[in-house]
Amino acid sequence: MSKYTQREAVTISQILAAKQSGQKLSAVTCYDSAFARLIDHTSVDIVLVGDSLGNVMLGHDGTVAVTMNDMLHHTAAVARVLKRPFLCADMPFLSYQVSTEQALTNAARLIQDGGAQGVKVEGGHPICSQVKAIVQAGIPVMGHLGLTPQSVHAMGGYRVQGRGSDAAQQILDDAHALQDAGIFALVLEMVPERLAERITASLHVPTIGIGAGAKCDGQILVLHDILGFDSGFSPKFLKKYANLGDTVQQALDAYDRDVKDGVYPGPEHSFKE
Ligand code: KIV
Repeated sequence: MSKYTQREAVTISQILAAKQSGQKLSAVTCYDSAFARLIDHTSVDIVLVGDSLGNVMLGHDGTVAVTMNDMLHHTAAVARVLKRPFLCADMPFLSYQVSTEQALTNAARLIQDGGAQGVKVEGGHPICSQVKAIVQAGIPVMGHLGLTPQSVHAMGGYRVQGRGSDAAQQILDDAHALQDAGIFALVLEMVPERLAERITASLHVPTIGIGAGAKCDGQILVLHDILGFDSGFSPKFLKKYANLGDTVQQALDAYDRDVKDGVYPGPEHSFKE
């Protein structure tokens, strides 16, 4: 939505209007205030404090171990400086599945204590009563279908979902159930492009794809993947827009050399009496 001026805050109604006008939405993850400050000066529409912070920031091998305290800590860091994009935070594994009351309490914590403007949850029919309750409390909810990493053990790994007509129909039905429950947008992760296109055409809320092809209403990627922090991580759906991993290592090696060669600090970096 490049029509936005730099300082105009992105709202839910603008996100919904983007679908009607055919304007694509851009979204990225973010986990800290240093990157939030940079993203704030771009035209990116939506920032997600994803539970992918388990992998990216905390060194876990997935999102299952991420806790509410982890999410609150990182969401608050982003919220302190992010002013323009719409800020959504992931509800972590088992913070909303147990009961409607638990879901509402934890969603409220991410808004009140974390400073998020909306929350994202993974799953379809089984969590629709929780989604409805959170929405009715005035908290915007983003859905997430297809590959849902919190269910990695049930899915048997990180693989494309919705292949075959029954599996595709299930995702389509779940998408409609979530829309009826009141979501404002739906992430579709790792589903075939044709299925994402069908879902996108049949919903009035925008779809945000990751590994779901070009027909979604918007796209989301993990910030550190876009920036190329890990040169060994190159899934098919990813386009890297920088190679910051290499850049950072080269900079640190240059600093190390300068220190050891006595080149840094020079006179220009030292204080006079
Ligand atoms: O946790 C996350 O980063 C996500 C996005 C990849 C959609 O859920």
